[in-house]
Amino acid sequence: MVDNPLRDPRDRRLPRIAGPCSLILFGVTGDLAKKKLIPAVYDLANRGLLPPGFALVGFARQDFGKQAFSKMIKQAAKDGARTPWSETVWKQLAAGIRFVPGEFDDDDAWERLGKTMEELDRQQGTGGNHAFYLSIPPSLFPVVVSQIKKHGLAESSQGWRRVVIEKPFGHDLATAQELNTIVADVFPSQSVFRIDHYLGKETVQNILAFRFANGMFEPIWNNHYVDHVQITMAEDIGIGSRAGYYDGIGAARDVIQNHLLQLMALIAMEEPVSFNAKSLRIEKQKILANARTPARIDLHSAHAQYDGGWAGGEKVLGYLEEQGIPQTSTTETYAAMRIDISTRRWAGVPFYLRTGKRLGRRVTELAVIFKRAPHQPFSKHDVEELGQNALVMRIQPDEGVTLRFGAKVPGTTMEIRDVNMDFAYGGAFVESSPEAYERLILDVLLGDPPLFPHREEVELSWEILDPVIEHWSKQKTIDTYPSGTWGPESADKMLARDGRVWRRP
Ligand code: BG6
Repeated sequence: MVDNPLRDPRDRRLPRIAGPCSLILFGVTGDLAKKKLIPAVYDLANRGLLPPGFALVGFARQDFGKQAFSKMIKQAAKDGARTPWSETVWKQLAAGIRFVPGEFDDDDAWERLGKTMEELDRQQGTGGNHAFYLSIPPSLFPVVVSQIKKHGLAESSQGWRRVVIEKPFGHDLATAQELNTIVADVFPSQSVFRIDHYLGKETVQNILAFRFANGMFEPIWNNHYVDHVQITMAEDIGIGSRAGYYDGIGAARDVIQNHLLQLMALIAMEEPVSFNAKSLRIEKQKILANARTPARIDLHSAHAQYDGGWAGGEKVLGYLEEQGIPQTSTTETYAAMRIDISTRRWAGVPFYLRTGKRLGRRVTELAVIFKRAPHQPFSKHDVEELGQNALVMRIQPDEGVTLRFGAKVPGTTMEIRDVNMDFAYGGAFVESSPEAYERLILDVLLGDPPLFPHREEVELSWEILDPVIEHWSKQKTIDTYPSGTWGPESADKMLARDGRVWRRP
C-alpha cells in the first residue's frame, strides 16, 4: 500500500482504520464469539474502522447453510452491539461473511478454508491479509495450529498472516511452554497476538496515563509512602453455563494468572522509555520476574468455593449444585494471595490480589493504600474516624479514580474524617468507552502489538502462580463462602495476619 503523504499518523483527528483483511474465527459458535467478538466486529464496522473489503470467516463443526450462518452472526451482532443498529452497515459486513464447515482434523475442510481465503482475496480484495482467531479450548490449539501450517496458510507471498490466541494460555508453566513452542513453530513472534482482554479496557490503559503523564503521583509511588496495594476483581455472577470450561481451571488460573498479574505489572512497573510494545514488555517483565509468592503459602493465600445464598435479590445455587459440576469438585471460585515484589521501589509493600464469583457485587478496582502520616499533631480522639489515605482506580463499572484523604468535619472541634475526591469518566468525557474487544481486534488487524502480553510475560505469570496452585491441590477439601458475600473468612484472616483489612469496594 502507498502511504498518503498528506496524512500524518500523529494527527489524532484521523482514525486508525484497518486495511483490507479477513478475520477467520475458530469457535465461532462459542459463547465468547457470540457475546463479545461478533458484536465488537459489528461495532468496529459501524464506527467506520473496518475497510469496505473486510471479511469474516467462521470455521465450525456444526454445519450451517450460508443463510443460517449469516443469520446467526446478525443475531449475535444485534444482541451484543454497543452502537446503534444500522442495516446499511450490516449489509456491507454481510457481503464479506463466509462459513467453512468441518472438523479441525479434516484435511478437506482446511482445503476449503484455503480456497475461501483465495476467493476472498479475489472477490473482496483482502490482499492476502488474514488473521486466525483461536477462540477454542487450549486442548485444540495444537491441531488447529498444525493444520494451519500443514495447509500452508500461515504464510503467503502477499500480505500478512497473524494468529490470535485466547486464554487460558496453558494450565501451568509446562503446558504454556509447550503451547508457546507449538505456536512459535508456525508463526513468528510478531505475528502472535495473545489476548488478555483487560489490557483492551480504557481504564486499564489509563493506569499508564495516570502514572506517567502526571508529575504529582510518581514521587509517592514507592515503599516510602505506599503501605500496600489491593487488586480486586469481583463478580456477582456464578459460572453460568461454563462448567465445562471452568471446572478444573478455577479462579486463580482464570483471572489471577492473566488479568490481575497484568494489572499488578502496570501499577508497579517503572516508566517505559516509550509506549512501544518492546519497551512496555521489558518493564512489565521486570516486575513479573521479581514477583515472589510468599514462603508460607498457607498463611498468605486463600481459596474457596461459593455456596448457595442470595445474589442480586435472587436465591442462587452453590457451585456444587451448578449443572455439570461433579459433587467432588474442589475447584476454587474465589482466590486471594499476597505477592511481594523484590525491587528497591517495592520491597516491603505487599500486593494483595483477590478475585471471585458470586461476591457482593461486580467491581474491579486497584487500591493503593498509603502509610499514615509519620506524626499526628492531633489527639487520638480527633482522628478516630481517619483511615489511611488511598488512591483507588475503578476499572469497572462506574469507571473513575477516587482519592481518599482526611478532612476536618465542620464544627468547633478538630474532628477529622475520611472524604473522597472523585474523577468519573462519565462526568469528564462525553465519549463512551469502546469495548475492550473492539480495541484489541482493531489492533490485531493493524498489527499493533503493545496491548498483547508476550510469551515471556505469560510464562513468568505461571511461574508466580504454579507453587500456589500446587499447594492448594494437595488439600482434599475446600473452604466455602455464601453467595453474595465478600468471600471466605480465611481471606479476611489472611489480611488480618498482616494487620490489614480488605477494602469493601
Ligand atoms: C474472563 C474470565 O477472562 O473475564 C471470566 O474467563 C470472567 O470468568 C470475565 O467472567 C470477566 O470479564 P469482565 O470484562 O466482565 O471483567
